Amino acid sequence: MSVHQENVRRVTTRRLQEMKNRGEKISMLTAYDYTMAGIVDNAGVDVILVGDSASNVMCGNTTTLPITLDQMISFAKSVSRATQRALVVVDMPFGSYQGNSLEAVASAIRIMKETYCDCLKMEGGEEIIDSVKRIISAGIPIMGHLGLMPQSINKYGSYTVRAQEEDEAAKLIRDAHLLEEAGCCAIVLEKIPAELATKISKELSIPTIGIGAGGGTDGQVLVLHDMLGLNCGFSPRFLRRYANLNEIMNNAIRHYVSDVKSGDFPNEQEQY
Ligand code: KIV
Repeated sequence: MSVHQENVRRVTTRRLQEMKNRGEKISMLTAYDYTMAGIVDNAGVDVILVGDSASNVMCGNTTTLPITLDQMISFAKSVSRATQRALVVVDMPFGSYQGNSLEAVASAIRIMKETYCDCLKMEGGEEIIDSVKRIISAGIPIMGHLGLMPQSINKYGSYTVRAQEEDEAAKLIRDAHLLEEAGCCAIVLEKIPAELATKISKELSIPTIGIGAGGGTDGQVLVLHDMLGLNCGFSPRFLRRYANLNEIMNNAIRHYVSDVKSGDFPNEQEQY
């Protein structure tokens, strides 16, 4: 399917809800730049997430914490420019919303004004609920994010599966309901037991989108660079690799280097 030739109908938060209502699974992938976002959009992905995983994938940091609001805005602008059909969701970076709800709404408005994205994503439940409500009351759609929340990695101490214990699972269920009541349009569930994710997905009327949360959620999300095999150092159980672009690119670049060294490139047809 190529969406760029047709007169496309944009995916909206309302259409995500319609997908859940009729049992159609939602596909979501990350993108951080114009070229990749254009490819992802053209291939028919429903939601493009400008994730703060850009901190790792694009900036080489070991966590998502260092990425700034300015950096996220820069990535998101490029993605929005390339996208004709998908809903564009932007992660609010660490430090841009945890302080208080006024700071949170100021950060949210800045992202919306400068990037032309459609929706924002925030990590957390009860702790950030005032900020979530205030941002939604400003007319900005919010996607929640529960389970493994990488912005809290220093609190957890590891990227292991979350909510395996009863207490944490009970809090996660409460938080999911709070986010739905606050008006979130969807919730990402990251790295939690499949049974728990399925239960939450059945209880909530808004869509859930899982990563490492099994097949019972209303949609799935992966980091583009991971599923394309660009980033070979990361292979958790939930990751299905759809290509080995690292190898393909490596071979192509080696071939280029060898052609330059040998004088084979450029040839007579490749010059003026
Ligand atoms: O930043 C990100 O890429 C994410 C996904 C893993 C859901 O939040």
